Amino acid sequence: MDKTRILFVCLGNICRSPLAEAIMKRRLEERGLSGTILVDSAGTGGWHVGELPDERARRHGASRGYTVDSRARQFDPDTDFDAFDMVIGMDEQNVRDLYSMANSERDREKVHRATAFCRCHPGHAGVPDPYFGGSSGFELVVDMLEDVAEGILEHLAGKVSPSVSHGA
Ligand code: 4NP
Repeated sequence: MDKTRILFVCLGNICRSPLAEAIMKRRLEERGLSGTILVDSAGTGGWHVGELPDERARRHGASRGYTVDSRARQFDPDTDFDAFDMVIGMDEQNVRDLYSMANSERDREKVHRATAFCRCHPGHAGVPDPYFGGSSGFELVVDMLEDVAEGILEHLAGKVSPSVSHGA
């Protein structure tokens, strides 16, 4: 069976999407699914390309046992839409930006908003950007992304559909 390929996308690729990548990878390892689902992350912006995740993202992730160590890269519409089956934007702006970069309806159909997979955090239109805030923002992001990871696994197991698969 071909691997399912999931790309998490935020603005800078140093806070939310590397946390999402680390959390999802751990969940897959725990379930013995690392060989069947490939996970990566990217940013719509290129300011932090090549950097390790923000120190706060690494610390808040590590406090729950996640290794948050991917190097930032910028989303490339010419290769990433083909390389991934699901392109999951963290917030409404990320999803809008991904739509604006899509080259085809096939590309657009791959775009989802992370919170469409949340079961426990209703009322959040997106995973809030923690970059300019404090510790509580990072804790909320980790809480939400743990919820998102479980929701995606249920979705992939065929149990549920994303509540909003398209549209910001
Ligand atoms: P992220 O957070 O999109 O979750 O990685 C941000 C990181 C950097 C910036 C903004 C948001 N920045 O403006 O540099």
